[in-house]
Amino acid sequence: MREPAACDIVIRNATVVDGTGASRRRGDVAISGDRIADVGDLSRLSGAREIDAGGQVLAPGFIDTHTHDDRFVLSDPDMAPKVSQGVTTVVTGNCGISLAPLRPKGALPPPLDLLGDETGYRFDSFARYLDALEAHPAAVNVVALVGHTTLRVGAMGALDREARDSEIKTMRDAIGEALVAGAAGMSTGLFYDPANAASTDEVIALAEVLAPADAIYATHMRDEAERIVEALDETLHIGRAAGVRVLVSHHKIQGEKNFGRTKETLARIDAARAGQGVAVDVYPYAAASTVLNPVSVSRSSSTVITWSKARPDAAGRTLADIAAEMGSDEAQAMERLQPAGAIYFAMDEDDVQRVLRHPGTMIGSDGLPHDEWPHPRLWGTFARVLGHYCRDLGLFSLEEAVHRMTGLAASEFALEKRGRIEAGFHGDLVLFDAETVRDEATFESPKRAARGIEIVIVNGVPVWERGRSTGERPGRVLRRRAGSNAAERPRRGGGS
Ligand code: ZN
Ligand code: CU
Repeated sequence: MREPAACDIVIRNATVVDGTGASRRRGDVAISGDRIADVGDLSRLSGAREIDAGGQVLAPGFIDTHTHDDRFVLSDPDMAPKVSQGVTTVVTGNCGISLAPLRPKGALPPPLDLLGDETGYRFDSFARYLDALEAHPAAVNVVALVGHTTLRVGAMGALDREARDSEIKTMRDAIGEALVAGAAGMSTGLFYDPANAASTDEVIALAEVLAPADAIYATHMRDEAERIVEALDETLHIGRAAGVRVLVSHHKIQGEKNFGRTKETLARIDAARAGQGVAVDVYPYAAASTVLNPVSVSRSSSTVITWSKARPDAAGRTLADIAAEMGSDEAQAMERLQPAGAIYFAMDEDDVQRVLRHPGTMIGSDGLPHDEWPHPRLWGTFARVLGHYCRDLGLFSLEEAVHRMTGLAASEFALEKRGRIEAGFHGDLVLFDAETVRDEATFESPKRAARGIEIVIVNGVPVWERGRSTGERPGRVLRRRAGSNAAERPRRGGGS
């Protein structure tokens, strides 16, 4: 006999992959309110809603550890590109770019325009940004980083030099404010012009503010090509000097002559892990995407324009094509397209797979939701890992793939009671067909939802079902509390 509607939702006959890396097991999962109430054989229980999984895989909702969704969660709260792949939590504020705290006085320097134009930058404190998001929630949960480049633009008159003591003080205060508000850490984008003149000492002085809160330092490193080892050593040094855990964002190596060097970088990361926390994330593609810039163009075999303010019709076409049409060289064409963004075919598939396979690597889409012709990683990342890399190429087991997208990421960002299927944990779940799940977004047709994702649930509420958004927006701002969850964090940033 079943008790009448003891739970809100019961999902039956699921293949439960619980996010810890443990082997799958057949079972039922019950949800009450925003939490997982029970897991196992729940034939005695009944739900107000009953879902028969038919043996499909039920996993914790995916955590997208690297996003530029700061503005998107406010402008497009259904978050279709993300929930359609099973993502239930996004980490914003990466690559030094966060929407807050900044009210720009003049033109927005690239790459801050990856979040759209200056009208989105309307929060003069981090607390106001998080409060706005809480007042207008998205379908997904948000973990927010504060961006170094955003802070520099707010604190400094000129960006082509190191910060002065007074400016460092201003930025340190802003980081402190962000942490009190609930920021999960700070990111840098030292590769980019507005942050490139920052010295290692400037970053250390700022990262020190993170240490007492055990908040993370995420970085788009100064160099991901010829000088990658120097850039990685700088990152590791900043972590040790400031006493913080570091996250190497979208780890990759660009430029043909550097292909294969992820062997060196991963060995260095492994060696460093003996003495400090080092996390890594990656997106599963051999092409990069960011603002249109000559350095990235020079390292690429081909460049595709993703947006151009001067020439909107250029989106989706190659730079070579546009230059030919203009009767100019690529450098001149690049000038005429600005401000603009691009996709760069600049990586080697072997490096991508080596980073993906490496124990402890998390998955971050780095999707650019405001681009006219976005890199397919925006819509495809998580399904591509599950379908192409896990099932078709066998880079890792399904349990391992899910762990990297869930339990491991929740540990690195110290998210309380998320990233696992276990009684008492939040009801962030994705039901998918492991046989058919695959990314449909391509470089030719980038805005296509993944296949095989059946139901996505956030805090107990379905947000994606039957191939579309439900319109519900149960996402929360996951504010970091100093020292929270420290016991559950892996000491060396590694997974299983
Ligand atoms: Zn980046
Ligand atoms: Cu990024």
